[in-house]
Amino acid sequence: MKNHPVQISAIRDMRDWSARTHGEGCTIAFVPTMGALHEGHLSLVRLACGHADRVAVSIFVNPTQFAPGEDYSTYPRDLDRDTALLAEVGCNVVFIPSASEIYPPDFSTNVTVGGLTERLCGKSRPDHFSGVATIVTKLFSIVSPDVAVFGMKDAQQLAVIKRLVRDLHVPVRIVEAPIVRESDGVAMSSRNANLTPDERVEAKLLNKSLQAARKAFSDGERDARQLKSIVGDILAVSTFGRVDYVECVDRETLKNVDEVVKPVLLAIAVGFSRARLIDNTVLKP
Ligand code: PAF
Repeated sequence: MKNHPVQISAIRDMRDWSARTHGEGCTIAFVPTMGALHEGHLSLVRLACGHADRVAVSIFVNPTQFAPGEDYSTYPRDLDRDTALLAEVGCNVVFIPSASEIYPPDFSTNVTVGGLTERLCGKSRPDHFSGVATIVTKLFSIVSPDVAVFGMKDAQQLAVIKRLVRDLHVPVRIVEAPIVRESDGVAMSSRNANLTPDERVEAKLLNKSLQAARKAFSDGERDARQLKSIVGDILAVSTFGRVDYVECVDRETLKNVDEVVKPVLLAIAVGFSRARLIDNTVLKP
């Protein structure tokens, strides 16, 4: 059992902690989250521990990345459980700001990463990535991390963050963490808790479809259309899920590719009644 992390809610106190930590000659690794922590998040924190002297985690359900009618109000929240879990994995400080301090009433600046944010999930969630880019820019400015860790499950988010860090010259190194899966292959997500029992069974189809495409790829298939149709055929078996997209894209630009001649992202999204699941795999020739 490790020490409980220091809990900070005011922006000024978080800045003071970071300044003090850097003043002591220590580096900071940062893991931004929206809470409802699961093994996937904890793996990010463990990875962060290996990249810096101190680890900061934020818990903030960011309202600007949810569209009206999306699951902002029902997004799972359990602060006591989250902080207890963080104590087990070596987190030093947990930043839990209030929405009113992050977004004062006259707040009017947003960060938009052109191009990348209109593809994949951006088609059905047009303002989502601007909300993500804005909150992550704010958190970077408050926490001043040397390193920040993001999971590969949100591959589009990762591409957006890398681009914003590059374009805005943010002095932080981005570390990518692999997808963590349940024993039946379903990618871990806080939203899995919102699946009905029948939907949870069908959620296995996402990874199953990606594995089938991986198998075809390792047998030599390089045609993106064929790979996508292997995935689409398996997802089509679903009774409760509605396929939002199956795409094969360049990892950095997220532009569609026709043939896999360099590493690509095969990405899918499936909507269930109260949860929209995403998953992906990287195919490397
Ligand atoms: O991946 C998430 O949990 C969120 O999008 C993030 C990065 C914490 C921003 O709110």
